[in-house]
Formats: sequence, structure tokens, C-alpha cells
Amino acid sequence: MENHVFDTSKSVLERISLPLFDAKGVEVYVKRDDLIHELVSGNKWRKLKYNLAQARQNKAEGIFTFGGAFSNHLLATAAACKETGFRSIGFVRGEELNADSNDTLRKCSELGMELIFLDRLEYGMRHDFEYIKELKNEHPNFYAIPEGGANYYGVIGCQEIWREIPFQANHVFAAQGTTTTSCGLAAGNTQKAEIHVVPVLKGFDALAEMKKVLDGFTYDSDLSAEYLEQVHIHPDAHFGGYAKYDTGLLEFIRMIYRECRLPLDHVYTGKAFYALYKWVENSDDLEGEKIVFLHTGGLQASGFYLE
Ligand SMILES: Cc1ncc(COP(=O)(O)O)c(C=O)c1O
Repeated sequence: MENHVFDTSKSVLERISLPLFDAKGVEVYVKRDDLIHELVSGNKWRKLKYNLAQARQNKAEGIFTFGGAFSNHLLATAAACKETGFRSIGFVRGEELNADSNDTLRKCSELGMELIFLDRLEYGMRHDFEYIKELKNEHPNFYAIPEGGANYYGVIGCQEIWREIPFQANHVFAAQGTTTTSCGLAAGNTQKAEIHVVPVLKGFDALAEMKKVLDGFTYDSDLSAEYLEQVHIHPDAHFGGYAKYDTGLLEFIRMIYRECRLPLDHVYTGKAFYALYKWVENSDDLEGEKIVFLHTGGLQASGFYLE
């Protein structure tokens, strides 16, 4: 789709230096997808790209999607729709909320997104085909994108990240929520790098969830099992669960910002970079290896500890 919102040229691959990395002789690069666009940043951009192209092809007049009160995905969808001329509807979890409840929702609304607030029970039906069919009947000519951009087109968009890594990486690290990004990385991994996945949810069976998504994507269980061979899960960097954190994590995020001006957030990228750092600290024989950290964006919540 020809629009500057879908230009990734600002996502540089930046080498960062820290005493630990120098001591271990590893080269660490950050793929700065957070710089792609002010609001359609990180993996949101990757997940929306082909969804919007598909909506355009279907001649849809608008997009509807789902998200929580602080959803990066809702905000990115609102911004991408505004810039590409689609109407947008956001179904938000929580009937007690309104468009003024927080900055995320306010910005969504300012960008022209119509916000419809659902109670938990109704929101819980967001993956149910019959329910989606009903919503499509109510909003004809709207293209539906699941919460978090987690569908086939989202995975395809995330696969493309590999095109922008111009050298053989030995390891790639990324945060995981819905698994769309990590499945895209796994499915596009022609370099056969080791993919390090850092789930931000507690007790999440990351490999099983990825297998389900990849099976739907490939329609070939053996092939998805093969994609998963290069995947390594770091299950202990969730800091208690989604959006949970402690002072140790915030101190770590501040230290990284001080040392190399790399902004991280406490929900996704801070935890993933923490896992990378600890893994390097505890590994031997990394001399000469190249590690790429995928910065998936999501910095809207980082103001309170980076200033
Ligand atoms: C900033 C950020 N990083 C990582 C993720 C996790 O990506 P995924 O949901 O594709 O696993 C998300 C959620 O979409 C996110 O907002």
C-alpha cells in the first residue's frame, strides 16, 4: 500500500555497546521498529500492513478491532486508519470506560476511531465466529482485525522483518504476547538463527500457543514443528505477569537508557531486553556472535520512569 505510514526506513539497525557485551565479545544490534512511526510503531506496523492491504482489496470502508483500555494496537489501528483513509471502530474491554478515561482512548477518539465499550462477558466473545458475524452484520463493509492484530496477515507482516537484517544473525530476541510476532519470526527464519522468545504473560505455554498459530498458518503440522526447532523460550522474565513490574525492572530500564539511550517499556520490551541481558551474562562461548533485539515499540507507558 503506497503510503508513508507503511515506510520502514526509520527502523534502523543500531549497534549498542554495554560493558557486559564487550566483556563477552558479542555484538548486539537493536532493530528499532519503535522508530517506524510515532503511533503505528513496532510490531503494530508489521501486523497492520497486510491487514489494511487486504481491507483495501476487499473495498472495505473501515476496520473494526478489539483492545483493552491501554491497547497499543487500538491506538496504532486508529492512526493507521486515519492516515490511509479508513473509518475505524474500536471495541474496548470495559463498559465502565469512556473516550476520556485515559490518554490512549482519548487519542484513539481524536484520531476518529469510534469507541464502543463492551462488558467483560461480551468482550470475551471476541474470538467467536458467530459473534464476529453479528458485528459484521451491524457494521457492513467493515474489515475485522482480531485483538493485537493476531491473524494470518499479522504473521506475514512480521515475517518481513528478516529482509531488513542484512547480516547472518546468530540470535534474535523478541517479546511475546499473542505470539503473532514470534510466529512471523519463526516462519521467516531462513537464516536459521536461534529465536529467543520472551513471554510477558505468566504461566503461558508459549510453544503450544505458537504451534497452534503456526498450524493455522502453514496447515502442515510437521512444517510448523520444524519452524519451532529454532525457538528458545525464556519463561521467567514476566515479572509476575502482564504489565507487572518491580523496582529491579525499572532500575534496569533506567540503566539501559542511561548507558545507551535505548528506551524500553515495562510491559514488553523492558522484559525482553532483561532476558537478553541475563542470558548473555549466564552464557559462555558467545565470542563473535551477533544478537539482534527486535524493538517492538509500545513506549506509550514509559514516560513515568524514563524522564
Ligand atoms: C510493544 C509490544 N511488544 C510486543 C508485543 C507482543 O507481540 P505479539 O502480540 O505479536 O506476540 C506487543 C503486543 O502486541 C506489543 O504491544
